[in-house]
Amino acid sequence: MQAIKVRNLSRQFGSVTAVDSLDLDISVGQVYGFLGPNGCGKSTTIRMLCGLLKPSAGEVNILGLSIPEQAEALKLKTGYMTQSYSLYRDLNVVENLNFMAEIYSLSGRNKRLRIEELITRYQLGDIRHQISGSLSGGQRQRLSLAAAVIHKPPLLLLDEPTSAVDPQSRRDFWESLFELVEQGTTILVSTHFMDEAERCHKLAILDRGKKVADDSPKNLMRDINAHVVEVHTDSVASAQDVLQCLPEIKGVTQLGLSLRVLVDRQVDQAEDFIRQTLTSHQLTAVATQVKANLEDVFVVATMSQPSGSR
Ligand SMILES: Nc1ncnc2c1ncn2[C@@H]1O[C@H](COP(=O)(O)OP(=O)(O)O)[C@@H](O)[C@H]1O
Ligand SMILES: [Mg+2]
Repeated sequence: MQAIKVRNLSRQFGSVTAVDSLDLDISVGQVYGFLGPNGCGKSTTIRMLCGLLKPSAGEVNILGLSIPEQAEALKLKTGYMTQSYSLYRDLNVVENLNFMAEIYSLSGRNKRLRIEELITRYQLGDIRHQISGSLSGGQRQRLSLAAAVIHKPPLLLLDEPTSAVDPQSRRDFWESLFELVEQGTTILVSTHFMDEAERCHKLAILDRGKKVADDSPKNLMRDINAHVVEVHTDSVASAQDVLQCLPEIKGVTQLGLSLRVLVDRQVDQAEDFIRQTLTSHQLTAVATQVKANLEDVFVVATMSQPSGSR
């Protein structure tokens, strides 16, 4: 079943096209990722999906509702969490949850039980009376997630929810997301972390407002339009200079003492091609083809746009 169906969605800000003819199909019960650098249109898209921002063009259907026309009804079915965590800094943990509960018309015993349940689940017990402005990044993140799911929404829209926390908190947060998915929640989450993107069931790579790839991480890595070759050489800098000028090379990244080189898929023997090229420049090298990772996919996907200047 479809949770989100988007066709031809665009948003202009003056002369800037923040989101450009986007199509999305997201199934119920998936963690669907938006991966892309700052400014590629992740937040603008999510804000349009929530109904907070009017599209310049396109159609959005979420959980059977037409957006922005039926945005009010959608609010009851979605939880939205942003990178800045929309908490009331002067209210303590319980007061924040109370406030959110009342927005969703929870009251009396139901409200108290739900809040206690969330306090236990998200380990907020010890800090329940602490002002939220004084919490650590990880604590604020847990409170923010608790607030976003207080009304048990079937859909969560999360905009870079882990950009301000340490690695352990990020891992814990993802555990919580999978727990919600097991209960049937659909989650759209934006990130610029490759390890997080790799955990999604499916993911869209966005580049300058356009979707440049859309599949499971596994399929994206399998179908990458390049050979990935690790190159060990004594003169890493010179080898990099030589390789990155070639039209057959889609990317060269230095990793410690080696280079990770993305070679056009049309090249037949990528390892030999690199070795011979370097030999002709009096450089000796050992070249080994390896499996693609998501970062490789990202580099190839974001460089193949016609307007790309990289
Ligand atoms: N309210 C706004 N007014 C003008 N430009 C905006 C506004 N919001 C976003 N943009 C522009 O739209 C583009 C996409 O931004 P955004 O969706 O925030 O990207 P991301 O969340 O991926 O970092 C950027 O070029 C940004 O400067
Ligand atoms: Mg953003």
